[in-house]
Amino acid sequence: MSIKLPGGMERVRDSERNLTSAAREPSTGRLYGAGPVPFNARIIERRDLNDRLAIIRVKFEKGAPPHFEPGQYMDVGIVVHDAERDSIGNSPHRNLLTRSYSIASSPEREVLEFYVSLVKRGILTPRLWRLRKNDRLWVQPRPRGRFTLEPVPKEADVLLIATGTGIAPYISMLRTYRRSNRLHRAAVVHSARTPVELGYHEELRAMSKEQAGLRYIPTITGDREASTWEGLRGRVQTLLESGRLEALSGFSLDPVRAHVFLCGNPKMVDNVSENLETRGFTPHTRMRAGNIHTERYW
Ligand SMILES: Cc1cc2nc3c(=O)[nH]c(=O)nc-3n(C[C@H](O)[C@H](O)[C@H](O)COP(=O)(O)OP(=O)(O)OC[C@H]3O[C@@H](n4cnc5c(N)ncnc54)[C@H](O)[C@@H]3O)c2cc1C
Ligand SMILES: NC(=O)c1ccc[n+]([C@@H]2O[C@H](COP(=O)([O-])OP(=O)(O)OC[C@H]3O[C@@H](n4cnc5c(N)ncnc54)[C@H](OP(=O)(O)O)[C@@H]3O)[C@@H](O)[C@H]2O)c1
Repeated sequence: MSIKLPGGMERVRDSERNLTSAAREPSTGRLYGAGPVPFNARIIERRDLNDRLAIIRVKFEKGAPPHFEPGQYMDVGIVVHDAERDSIGNSPHRNLLTRSYSIASSPEREVLEFYVSLVKRGILTPRLWRLRKNDRLWVQPRPRGRFTLEPVPKEADVLLIATGTGIAPYISMLRTYRRSNRLHRAAVVHSARTPVELGYHEELRAMSKEQAGLRYIPTITGDREASTWEGLRGRVQTLLESGRLEALSGFSLDPVRAHVFLCGNPKMVDNVSENLETRGFTPHTRMRAGNIHTERYW
C-alpha cells in the first residue's frame, strides 16, 4: 500500500507492521535504497547519557531545516544494507527505514536535536546506535504533528508531563519561549528510572531558576538502593493522585485555566488522561478543542 505525499513523493506502508518503511523517488518511481543512498543529513554531535539514551544533533547537508512548531516531530531514516535486510522483511526494496522523533531543538537553530532511547529489540534504534559523528542519515524535511502550544491560550497554566524521551518536545517549547511570555506559568514533570536518565536535568534546573513562572519537577522511579537521589520518587500517576504534582506545580489543576500535555509511554498517557477526565479536563482532538494534549510514542 502506498500514500501520496506533497511534492510527488510516495510512501510505502509496510502492511505487516503498519510502519512507513520506504520512500519512492517521484521522477523515476524507484524505491530509495534500491538506487543511490538517499542521505540528506549528517550527525554532527552525539552525546550518550548511558548505553541506551543519546542526544543526537543532526544537520541537513544542504540548507537549513524547514520551519517547525515547537512540539512537532520529524521522521528519521537509515538505509539498511543487504546483510541486515532479512531481519526486516523479504522485499529487496525496503531499504530506507524511518521512525518518528520529536524535535528537541528550537526552530531558530540550524541544527536539529533528537533525544533517543535504544529499544534493544527494535528495528531502527539498534542500527541508529551504530552511527557516530559525521555519519549520514535521512531526515524527512517535513515536520509533523499537532502536539504544540498553538491551541493553548496565552494566559493558560500549562502542565507538561513526560516519561523518558517524551521530554524532547517540551525542551523545544521551553528553549523557544525562554525569553517570551508565552509560557507565563508552567510546570514540567519528567519521570525517569535513574537520575542519569533525566536528560536535560541541568538545563531545566537553570531555566526554572531563571523564570519565576516555571517549575521543574523531576521524579525517579528506579531502584532506591541503586542511587543517592534525594528528590521526588514515584510514577506520574501516583504523584498526581496524591496531590503532590499539584502542590509542586505552583498552580491548581483547574480545567478552566489549565492545559495538560502528556508525552511518552502510552500507558502513562492513557492513565493520566483518565484521571484528568474525572477532574473535568477533556481531550483535545481535531474535532473538538480540549485541554488534554497527548503524544504517544508507541
Ligand atoms: C510522534 C512520535 C514521536 C516520537 N519521538 C520519539 C523521541 O523523541 N525519542 C524516542 O526515543 N522515540 C520517539 N518515538 C518512538 C520512535 O518513533 C520509535 O518507535 C522508537 O525509536 C523505536 O523504534 P525501533 O525501530 O527501534 O523499534 P520498533 O521495531 O519500531 O519497535 C518495537 C516495539 O518496541 C516498542 N517501542 C517502540 N518505541 C518504544 C520506546 N521508545 N520505548 C519502549 N518501547 C518502545 C513498541 O511496542 C514497538 O512495537 C516517537 C514516536 C512517535 C509516534
Ligand atoms: N536496563 C535496561 O536495559 C533498560 C532500562 C530501562 C528501560 N529499558 C528499555 O528502554 C526502552 C524505552 O525507555 P524509555 O526511556 O522510553 O522509558 P523507560 O526508561 O522505560 O521509562 C521512563 C519512565 O517512564 C515510567 N513509566 C514506564 N511505564 C509507565 C507507566 N505505565 N505509567 C507511568 N509511568 C511509566 C518509568 O517508570 P518505571 O520505572 O516505574 O517503569 C520511568 O520513570 C524500553 O524498551 C525499555 O524496556 C531498558
